[in-house]
Amino acid sequence: MFSIRMRASLEGRHVSGAERIAEGRNLGETVYELLKRPGEYDEIVLKVEMVEDVNIINSLNIREYNFRNMEESRMFVTYLLEKEGIRSSLVRKLMAEIEGGANPHGGNMRGAMIVDVETGERLEKDKSRGIRTVRVDWDRRADVKNEFLGKGLTERTVDALAIASKNIYCGVLAEICWSDDPEYVTGYVATKSLGYVRITPLKRIGDPFGGRIYFVRKEDVERVIECLERKACLVKYF
Ligand code: COA
Ligand code: AMP
Repeated sequence: MFSIRMRASLEGRHVSGAERIAEGRNLGETVYELLKRPGEYDEIVLKVEMVEDVNIINSLNIREYNFRNMEESRMFVTYLLEKEGIRSSLVRKLMAEIEGGANPHGGNMRGAMIVDVETGERLEKDKSRGIRTVRVDWDRRADVKNEFLGKGLTERTVDALAIASKNIYCGVLAEICWSDDPEYVTGYVATKSLGYVRITPLKRIGDPFGGRIYFVRKEDVERVIECLERKACLVKYF
């Protein structure tokens, strides 16, 4: 099988990214689909790489909660993670970092923070880049997408659930995410026992900041990063 990854930029700024894992006979249509995805851009980079081993992993289950405002939603995040053994002071501090732009050079990171669950130490070598979860796709993507659209969910959730499912499979103990899209205020918390918990709103409309926090055991960090970046995974929903 092949990992097919697309990223698009406009005036040097990343504007769109997407990926698939597909069989060789479906390569043409997959590349075409990804090429059609970005809106405005002046450069597209497409990578096609053969992958030897593809792991079939389970999807997390989805739950959904809506709150009146961002403050209530974030309190709920700290409550959920406190029950998982992660200190709420630590969760609040990291969420505040994302709120102000977790990239030390200003703005959003290009990937996720990876954090020692005990001490809160940020373990990513490059704090502007962070860690990206790649080489992940759905088994039967078209069916999963139809199912989600039928429930009023969007392809964004399809993609985010695949990433979160791979993260937990790789040994991330908990993830917090909200988008940097100013118009999209739903985020999520994911853990093995809670599943994928969609929470609205995790930020205010118009806010351009977003990011991801991956909590790990420090002693596992190298193995977890290797898995997130290298291991090809197809997520099974049905
Ligand atoms: N955000 C910002 N910049 C990105 C980026 C991202 N998500 N992905 C790639 N880039 C830019 C960076 O400048 C990067 O350089 P860096 O490694 O120093 O940060 C450069 O492109 C090359 O990145 P690379 O890791 O080689 O990209 P890739 O070819 O492996 O492709 C993507 C990675 C684009 C497929 C992946 O980042 C992505 O976007 N996946 C889809 C995620 C998704 O589905 N999101 C929606 C739901 S949450
Ligand atoms: P998005 O939901 O696409 O708006 O992404 C929200 C944030 O998650 C971005 O600002 C990045 O910091 C981070 N991010 C984007 N892509 C990835 C990825 N593939 N893996 C981990 N983090 C990512």
